[in-house]
Amino acid sequence: MTERFYITTPIYYVNAAPHIGHAYTTIVADVLNRFHMLSGMNTFFLTGTDEHGDKIVAAADQSGQSPKEYVDRISRMFRELWPKLNISYNHFIRTTDPDHQETVRLVLTRVKERGDIYFSEYEGLYCFGCERFYTEKELVDGKCPDHQTPPQVIKEANYFFRMSRYQQWLIDYIHAHPDFIRPERYKNEVLSFLSEPLEDLCISRPKSRLTWGITLPFDDNFVTYVWFDALINYVSGLGYPSGDRFKTYWPWAQHIIAKDILKPHGIYWPCMLKSAGIEPYRHLNVHGYWNVSQGKMSKSLGNVVRPLDLVDVYGLDPFRYFLMREMVFGLDSEFSEEALVARLNADLANDLGNLVSRSLTMIHKYFKGNLPEPGPVKPRDEELKRSALALVDIYEKQMRDLGMHKALMAVWEVIGKVNKYIDEMAPWVLAKSETGRLGTVIRHIFETLRIVAGLLWPFIPESAQKIQVQLGLPCQGKDVTLEDLRTWGMERPVRLIEKAPALFPRIERRKEKGRALPLHPPEKALPSKKGDAAIPADQALITYDDFQKIDLRIGVIRAAEPIAGSKKLLKLTVDIGEERTVVAGLKGHYEEAALAGKQVLMVANLEPAVLMGIGSEGMILAATDRCGVHLLGPDSETVPGSRVK
Ligand code: MSP
Repeated sequence: MTERFYITTPIYYVNAAPHIGHAYTTIVADVLNRFHMLSGMNTFFLTGTDEHGDKIVAAADQSGQSPKEYVDRISRMFRELWPKLNISYNHFIRTTDPDHQETVRLVLTRVKERGDIYFSEYEGLYCFGCERFYTEKELVDGKCPDHQTPPQVIKEANYFFRMSRYQQWLIDYIHAHPDFIRPERYKNEVLSFLSEPLEDLCISRPKSRLTWGITLPFDDNFVTYVWFDALINYVSGLGYPSGDRFKTYWPWAQHIIAKDILKPHGIYWPCMLKSAGIEPYRHLNVHGYWNVSQGKMSKSLGNVVRPLDLVDVYGLDPFRYFLMREMVFGLDSEFSEEALVARLNADLANDLGNLVSRSLTMIHKYFKGNLPEPGPVKPRDEELKRSALALVDIYEKQMRDLGMHKALMAVWEVIGKVNKYIDEMAPWVLAKSETGRLGTVIRHIFETLRIVAGLLWPFIPESAQKIQVQLGLPCQGKDVTLEDLRTWGMERPVRLIEKAPALFPRIERRKEKGRALPLHPPEKALPSKKGDAAIPADQALITYDDFQKIDLRIGVIRAAEPIAGSKKLLKLTVDIGEERTVVAGLKGHYEEAALAGKQVLMVANLEPAVLMGIGSEGMILAATDRCGVHLLGPDSETVPGSRVK
């Protein structure tokens, strides 16, 4: 029977817009899912959103929307982002889905029947940001280590899950399955939690305090604790208990999470599964954190990096490649645009891009786009062939062990070898005298490129497929298997080999340090009781005083210039009584020449930002609709610098 592979991401809270942390986890899941497709497995990929609990109610309140309107809006942001990052999930689950809610009630009933739920009064230290009770020992300087806020003392009667009953079973299970939680450091962390007595888990919230949740099946006065609800998504998303998908894909589950949610996944979830009579998942795969400027990304610091900002400036595949190449799975990484540009220029534009373009150019020049027949083979050709075939095994092993960055390093080693082979074989010299040898050399380059493109597809699907098309290959993307890549000469082109433009244009950057990204201004933090900051809703009302804070002026565009390396941005000189430089996303929407002389509406007191290394000192306003971008301005000639009220 075909082997099965089921991969999940955490279901993300809808109290914050997606950032690169969410994108990383989801891209890892996508890369691994695609890799298992190449391995010929029957795969299923689940992601979604976590929509109940205090945090979400607080965020909805702040945005002036009802919880339902609010969660619909933010969940849509996640659902619509993933296709833009080429994430090919099979199902998007929401904890507000009726069938998920039914499953949660079913699991609670089973756990209760098992005698694992009891009612009791409890007083404890509660962090609203984490939505959980803390023990004194877990606090750092009396504060929640994640939110840096003191927890509140809460006393109430609640339902409890008898998790303590499963402590020994879990310890034994982890010892018997040493890679149940990986990498090892996280297994050790879980075992260290388990070396202390495990407390039972409070799994309800009284409706007097919270109504936005799933009502307990055995007491209408309570809703389910958000973690108990959320974890069940991994089985409800497959149609537990009787759905075909559940029968097919459970227990082949590979959960991908970051270290922040190790405890619920490494301890609560296996105990819940055991109690409900469901087999444990296969592996919990835990990665580290992306930090920005040596610290945590946080909305209140305004250093949140949004995936689409990066994709807009650098392109999707460079973004996916950078995340996978830069982070060692399990360890923290520092995000910087400089590092992204360096990888894009060195690995993608220089090494891979040049290899593809010089190879295709030679096939065109010497054989009019046809793959030549090989002539005599020499040891140097055999050596390249051996490296290319060995690469498939090395890559496969690394991918199975979550060594995505090492798999990429191995691919790049071979890319380096082909580039060197071309330099040494000098096809341009062979073309003059030895056409038989030239055929052999071109065939070896072609085959190695075919292997490289196939292996890169999970990481950079669009570019890999472009290479496959340019090589004229009949099978592309998921239709290629690792076995095909292990077979030298497996596929011949079915079309002429194309000569194509550069896959990855180099990004030239100025010497001075600068960001190409829009800076997301710090968002107002919610009162600590309510946890993390919320997204300001487009619908939220502002006061007249708020409006007056915006210094709106009439300006005249004096000059518009392209910015090297940017697909979207133009550098404008705008006269608002004084000259300001403004970087605006107008490229492709307006001819530069047509902008000069235009009167525009400008926000003159926006905090300056550096975009593509250029200081931007304001923002000009435009409306966007299906037809494009429309600049706003006065309906008759107005003196530059006039205030708009
Ligand atoms: N809703 C819970 C998860 C429930 S799963 C049953 C939750 N949501 S979350 O929106 O806070 O997402 C946390 C996850 O987002 C992390 O585990 C990780 O996958 C991703 N990341 C969030 N910030 C991150 C970084 N800075 N770096 C890497 N990944 C990060 O917790």
